[in-house]
Amino acid sequence: MSKYLITAALPYANGPLHIGHLAGCYLPSDIFVRYLRLQGRDVKYICGSDEHGVAITIRARKEGKTPQEIIDLYHTQIRDSFKEFGISFDIYHRTSDPIHHQTASDFFTTLYDKKLFLEEESEQYFDEEANLFLADRYITGTCPNCANPNAYGDQCERCGTSLSPKELINPQSQLSGQAPVLRTTKHWYLPLDKIQQNWLNDWIMSKEGYWKKNVFGQCKSWLDQGLQPRAVTRDLDWGVPVPIKGVTGKVLYVWFDAPIGYISATKALLPDTWEDYWKGKDSKLIHFIGKDNIVFHCIIFPAMLKEHGGYNLPENVPANEFLNLEGDKLSTSRNWAVWLHEYLKDFHDKQDVLRYALCASAPETKDNDFTWKEFQDRNNNELVAVLGNFINRTFVLTEKYFENKVPPISALSESDLDCLQILREAPAKLTDSIERYRFRESLAGVMDIARLGNKYLADNEPWKLYKTNPDRVATILNIALEISGFLSYIMEPFLPFTAIKLRAMLNLPSKQWSEVFGGNIFEAGHQLGTASLLFSKIEDDIILQQMEKLNASRTVLATSSTGNITKPTLNPFKETTSYDDFSKMDLRVGTIIAAEKVEKADKLLKLTIDTGLDQRTVVSGIALHFKTEEIIGQQVTLLANLAPRKIKGIESMGMILMAEDAEGKLIFMQPSNKTINGSSIS
Ligand code: 2FM
Ligand code: ZN
Repeated sequence: MSKYLITAALPYANGPLHIGHLAGCYLPSDIFVRYLRLQGRDVKYICGSDEHGVAITIRARKEGKTPQEIIDLYHTQIRDSFKEFGISFDIYHRTSDPIHHQTASDFFTTLYDKKLFLEEESEQYFDEEANLFLADRYITGTCPNCANPNAYGDQCERCGTSLSPKELINPQSQLSGQAPVLRTTKHWYLPLDKIQQNWLNDWIMSKEGYWKKNVFGQCKSWLDQGLQPRAVTRDLDWGVPVPIKGVTGKVLYVWFDAPIGYISATKALLPDTWEDYWKGKDSKLIHFIGKDNIVFHCIIFPAMLKEHGGYNLPENVPANEFLNLEGDKLSTSRNWAVWLHEYLKDFHDKQDVLRYALCASAPETKDNDFTWKEFQDRNNNELVAVLGNFINRTFVLTEKYFENKVPPISALSESDLDCLQILREAPAKLTDSIERYRFRESLAGVMDIARLGNKYLADNEPWKLYKTNPDRVATILNIALEISGFLSYIMEPFLPFTAIKLRAMLNLPSKQWSEVFGGNIFEAGHQLGTASLLFSKIEDDIILQQMEKLNASRTVLATSSTGNITKPTLNPFKETTSYDDFSKMDLRVGTIIAAEKVEKADKLLKLTIDTGLDQRTVVSGIALHFKTEEIIGQQVTLLANLAPRKIKGIESMGMILMAEDAEGKLIFMQPSNKTINGSSIS
């Protein structure tokens, strides 16, 4: 029998989980694994915390804690959230575990002994004050592409360009605030260029049409650009030490050690048989991830596994796209998220409602948006009105007419036969869509069965027949109960808590699907358990509270690891204005083409703005936030018809609009794409 090794991306233990994590890879992988188990397949489901890398050290530094304190805190919190949402890992491990250090270290040594790595010296930024080499994330500067003054050494988060620290204009160390200097350091590189030529290109190209389009497309574009050697070591003191004699102060790159975490977790789970799952001919390795992890799971990790030798390569990598929240990118640092532990405080026993809402609009083929309104609608109009309503009606009628026992079936009508036929055909469809990782489609299929139940009751109207034809009522309710039992089994991968509750109500045991489908679930006379409501309506005020909470977090300055939130003072909204007043404002796109400090005024900069129509002077109070050279080239929103004002003797012709970000830094209100100067904003 085939074995399945299912992995879900190891989350960084540097913050709590939010709905984006759940929707991206944990919910789909859990659905898939629960499905495999119900099919009686031999499956192991692996995850754990990713506890190395600069993401952890940055968080620790920010909070004045040690990296160990940070990972201990979040590892526990993340593990608990998964458990509470029914994510049914066979093991939730962690990369700080000695088993992992040993496994990652051995893995590196095998590749090193095979002389796979290139050894190269290069110049990297060094912070002389902090006395260490700077990880890319510790360096910020101006993006050469869009002039964002706060771009990171590995990526500009405004324009999305991936960068190397040397491309930044005016680089600055985030540790000391100083300009870093270049120093020589030695690192070990995975020769992806050679590996691509030798076999990786062919291997990936063979997945066309089999892997999801978004996944294959991303891989193909990496291959088309030509892979480059990648450093797999870093100058850092947090991580798995580089196991080469005489080398100190260096660790394995977090993206080298993290995927090996899947192997170490399997070892911890199955010390004697882990190799069957990783190396067995009949074992399938499937990685569930978010789209930002594609290159690591489809290119780098397979390259490592194959060059090491003995390991299977992933059979599939069904990555999801991203989930947004109310139209905005989810962000831990901006606190723009629905946190799982907070959701549970507000909606105690509603784990399945979130699972349902996230699966029903999962970002399977494109980015998708979570809104509280849609969440409410999914609950009220689908879970309550369709699924809950059908089950409730079936129980109420069975109680009323048959003392809570499954009534016997007699002659079947056309409508009964149609209904039973649909039930017989449903499993194949469901299986087909789950096996193709189409969980939205399969969940819709489950709800269609509940809809079928409602329609069946509505068409047959048993409540009108009892006096004249009790046998017919018995048959109708027998079939309605069959549908309910069927639902309790097919909903299990998606709504595991509800499945258990419903089965207790129906007094049914857990069963594998093969034992359930194709035959009758109940015998006449079967005693049902106690009924209760599966779902309850979510009222507007509850949704409003969530919206308010979210809006408040737009202005949150900082979140400490204890979850205490520091809020800035918010000014109340101003008085209502009329449209006519608003439309008097002439807002235009302009570009800063020159900037200089205003003498004897710390806060003021004298800007020259190209408005497309003229070049004019604007005096702006932003000098404490920006260096003059950083802002040249930035596009801005200019209030162009503000009455001229003399400020420190300089005539200012307008005003530029700014906002404060979550850290209290000023940011320019500017178009997201370069726009022609003079474009009017309305
Ligand atoms: O992107 C992330 O959150 C990473 N921590 C995922 C690691 S997946 C794996 F390779 F371990
Ligand atoms: Zn940029």
